[in-house]
Amino acid sequence: MSSLPITARHGKALNPSGVRPTDAPAWIDEVDNPYLHGLFAPVSTEVTADALPVLEGELPRDLWGGYFRNGPNSVHAPKNRYHWFDGDGMVHGIWFEDGKARYANRWVETAGMKMESEAQAPIWPGVLGPFDFSAPLGPIKDTANTDLIEVNGRLLALWYESGKPYVLDPKTLQTRGVEDFGGQLSFPLSAHSKTDPATGDFIFFSYGDRPPYMRYGVLTASGELHHVEIDLPGPRRPHDIGVTPRYSILHDFPVFFDPELFAKKGKRVPLFHPDVPTRYGIIPRLGTNDDVRWFECEPCYMLHVVNCWEDGDWVVMIGCRTTDPTLRPDRADGPIAAMLSGLKLQANLYRWRFNMVTGAVEEGPLDDANAEFPMIRPSVIGQENRWAYLQRIPFEIPATFEGLMKYDLRSGAFTEYAYGQGVYGSEAPFAPRAGGAADDAEDDGYLVSFVTDTTDWSSACVVFDAKDVAAGPLAKVALPQRVPAGFHATWIDGATLDAAAS
Ligand SMILES: [Fe+2]
Repeated sequence: MSSLPITARHGKALNPSGVRPTDAPAWIDEVDNPYLHGLFAPVSTEVTADALPVLEGELPRDLWGGYFRNGPNSVHAPKNRYHWFDGDGMVHGIWFEDGKARYANRWVETAGMKMESEAQAPIWPGVLGPFDFSAPLGPIKDTANTDLIEVNGRLLALWYESGKPYVLDPKTLQTRGVEDFGGQLSFPLSAHSKTDPATGDFIFFSYGDRPPYMRYGVLTASGELHHVEIDLPGPRRPHDIGVTPRYSILHDFPVFFDPELFAKKGKRVPLFHPDVPTRYGIIPRLGTNDDVRWFECEPCYMLHVVNCWEDGDWVVMIGCRTTDPTLRPDRADGPIAAMLSGLKLQANLYRWRFNMVTGAVEEGPLDDANAEFPMIRPSVIGQENRWAYLQRIPFEIPATFEGLMKYDLRSGAFTEYAYGQGVYGSEAPFAPRAGGAADDAEDDGYLVSFVTDTTDWSSACVVFDAKDVAAGPLAKVALPQRVPAGFHATWIDGATLDAAAS
């Protein structure tokens, strides 16, 4: 056993200066967990700032809209073992108009966070458990910290464990309440539900530790809610869903926990079962459980889908696939060893093809680089596309993004921009040019990301020309405070923001 604290052994690369971020809450100093320090340390304040200084380059005048990024930002010290996924959701937003930018950050004011603020103490254990089934609102706190999706002009914050869709004001990031689709929604939604750009249908799924293990549904563009329960052999950990014009692709990976151990001891340890096939369930857009056609594939895990489309009799899915999600905890890491092993993400671009007539499956890698958090032009969701924008992730420093990659999905080739030594980025969604035409080239637009420099804890927003990522940012804008490492981001165009405010 090492005598060094776990944070010191794992935190050096994330905190090369050794200087503590001064804007982090004092309580982090009492918690030996690298995902509460350095690049991952929460910030303590909500800030609003106009007229951000442009440090380098020039902001394009046809960059009109907002970039929003969600992530964990704990208010209180953890009740017991902390996992990076546990922090209360905080959204950092930057708005662009006429070559100027403004910024704000706000916590997602979830019911759980409010209860803990009133109690001035944590109430729930984190996802590492053991769970308290008598806790109010359920055994785990819904933090809404994972994803952001715009649905009918409303900005929703969603949680990867499936929770309530919290509505944020897209102009201020203030929490406005919980979306229930006109009283129709009575169950949780997962992060990574999706909107079909062609129809406006909102396609969602959710999953749980107890039956029903999966739900699937669609809020149609006309506002009707269709939802069904999906039979699974037990509790599963799907993270995303694929969408084509006629189908949705549901995920059943051989990574699951023992439901009996969960029921008896409140322990949930998802393990990889390499002798169990991965299954993808292809369901018609408004289908039921009986309509699902399951395809068996090589065992694996996958967090994020890049895109899906139809090609004659085939349904194609491209995603960031983890070949071997076996946990390899280091005993020296003690109670958080499983978390540290689990965050060592190893994923590469991969393509599956499913034949809807013959049942045949074709699958194989497109590339071997460690790359995740894929983004595409939103208008091509469900359509065959060429370009995807991913983050390069160093295996040695899990959950950090060290460069922006532009992949050609036809050839598997990529170009890349490295954020710089000790500088880490955020998910980089595509922002179409304001006033652009429907027949603009697929990569005619911008990519937006936050970067944080671990040597001085400054953060900035960087804007890339999507046609030439390797050239580096067109503009770099100073942010008024540090942005910790986080999860998912989205872009909302200016016209949608204006309409939402009226
Ligand atoms: Fe995700």
